[in-house]
Amino acid sequence: MAKFHWLFLIVFLPYHGKAAKISPSKSRLSLQWKTFNCASNPLHVSRHKCIILDNDKSLITVEVDYLQAISQLNATFKLFLPRQPFKEYHKIIDLNVDVCQFSKGLYGHKFIGVIVKSLGKKASSQLKCPRPKGLYSYPNISIADNLPGFLPTTDFKVEISFLSPDSMLNTSLSGMLYDPAKTSGK
Ligand SMILES: *[C@@H]1O[C@H](CO)[C@@H](O)[C@H](O)[C@H]1NC(C)=O
Ligand SMILES: *[C@@H]1O[C@H](CO)[C@@H](O)[C@H](O)[C@H]1NC(C)=O
Ligand SMILES: *[C@@H]1O[C@H](CO)[C@@H](O)[C@H](O)[C@H]1NC(C)=O
Repeated sequence: MAKFHWLFLIVFLPYHGKAAKISPSKSRLSLQWKTFNCASNPLHVSRHKCIILDNDKSLITVEVDYLQAISQLNATFKLFLPRQPFKEYHKIIDLNVDVCQFSKGLYGHKFIGVIVKSLGKKASSQLKCPRPKGLYSYPNISIADNLPGFLPTTDFKVEISFLSPDSMLNTSLSGMLYDPAKTSGK
């Protein structure tokens, strides 16, 4: 159960913007993505790219070409962790957030704050609404740099769905947090 202590912190601490103490230098664990899949709605998105970088599997790149301007965008975030003894995945976090509020620094949740911070400054500025149609690119997203330092090693899965207001893009990711000092990964 100690394993879930950090989740308790992440789930129940509200995000306090700049006051949050997430120091990249304190991250001890490395993150490696294993799979990244996306499905888009052809009525909203002409093409998309969801890739894990070949030469650095801690990084992902997302590109979405919107066919229509975005005036409203919500997202659901789900985090799943394996639970002993059978390691079947359980949903730990399930959030619905208003993405249009992100540019105002209103993430609603610490977990989301980590993700938005990982997009980088330029990408974060692309989260304003309304937002013209066209190609949006979020290169080299590094979640690991923004994670707190007290996390346990674990496999995990994340599902993020975007709604505007009908389904626009579904993404699912799997990865692991590991200690680079102990092992080079399984
Ligand atoms: C996303 O997933 C939901 C729920 O499974 C589904 O209803 C929706 O059609 C999916 N959207 C796309 C764009 O694949
Ligand atoms: C979008 O998310 C916000 C925050 O959770 C919620 O209040 C709002 O009702 C959502 N809007 C839609 C269309 O789901
Ligand atoms: C992303 O990372 C790759 C590999 O580390 C690098 O070659 C590329 O220039 C980076 N792209 C951007 C836009 O930062």
